Amino acid sequence: MRRVLVTGVTGFAGSHLVDYLLTRGDCEIFGTRRWRSRTENIEHFPDTVTIVECDLRDASSTRDTLERLRPDWIFHLAAQSFVPTSWSAPTESLTTNVLGQLNIFEAVRRVNLKCRIQLACSSEEYGMVFPDEVPIREANPLRPLSPYAVSKVAQDMLGYQYWMSWQVDNVRTRGFNHEGPRRGPVFVASDFAKQIADIEKGLKPPVLSVGNLEAQRDFTDVRDMVRAYWLALEKCAPGEAYNICSGRAWTIRKLLDHLLGMTSAKIEVRQDPARLRPSDVPILLGDNTKFVQATGWQPTIPFEQTLKDMLEYWRSR
Ligand code: GDD
Repeated sequence: MRRVLVTGVTGFAGSHLVDYLLTRGDCEIFGTRRWRSRTENIEHFPDTVTIVECDLRDASSTRDTLERLRPDWIFHLAAQSFVPTSWSAPTESLTTNVLGQLNIFEAVRRVNLKCRIQLACSSEEYGMVFPDEVPIREANPLRPLSPYAVSKVAQDMLGYQYWMSWQVDNVRTRGFNHEGPRRGPVFVASDFAKQIADIEKGLKPPVLSVGNLEAQRDFTDVRDMVRAYWLALEKCAPGEAYNICSGRAWTIRKLLDHLLGMTSAKIEVRQDPARLRPSDVPILLGDNTKFVQATGWQPTIPFEQTLKDMLEYWRSR
């Protein structure tokens, strides 16, 4: 049995990753959470999943935890992951994301752990992508457009540097947008689906607030994404970066229209200036060839199904 640690286990991707690990039945599962984090995403876990309290921003907490658990594999998913929050609280975003990972690397090095680490890097790192650069490959320049994106560039580059300097074995997965049930209500697909469900229940007036509908994103279902994370550690080369994406882009307008097509409620769409960003990434459309060649991974859940599942999720709550 492989000892597997998931950081950020109470989060969206973390909880789905544990669901996937449970179906495999070939690992002992550990998860770290901060003491005040919400637990609703992990309440369905069986007792065989061990949850430990650890603040990755605290070096001694991180080192003690890794020394005690001695994982074979670490999926590092803990992060401040909402782009707008990184403008209102840049220090918090950079500290959580960059120092959190640095503390893991230093603990692994000093405790002399022989483990593989998956780093949840992001397509946001590419930032300003020009029309002749899509679909985006791993060698594309990184032109981050938010403090969040800068924090992910730093995580990504630390992965490279710790492999080259210290042979800390890690794989940098550059995940493009991923969605599904349990997605936090601030992210676009979940936000729109929740607004529709609230309107249907009469909990809010029939006006749906939106931001920039012209942006384009490459969406993958979270259940396909966490399977890709597993394959990354099983099959990918240390120190390398891989795009994980579907290779198809949707405008946010198309996403909205698709969700609106699933309700009979009459809804007015209104742009809320507060939802516009100081600089929004115009297009993220990825090329997944490198990852597919290394692992054979293919996404299996169409985005239409993901959106349906998300709307049902909010309707049932
Ligand atoms: N959240 C939100 N709310 N976004 C909106 C809205 C709205 O009302 N209206 C339009 N958008 C647009 C945003 O401007 C952005 O262009 C796009 O929808 C997606 O926004 P988010 O769902 O907040 O995700 P993101 O693309 O900024 O970042 C997500 O994907 C990254 C990978 O590419 C996050 O999950 C990041 O953590 C992740 O790294």
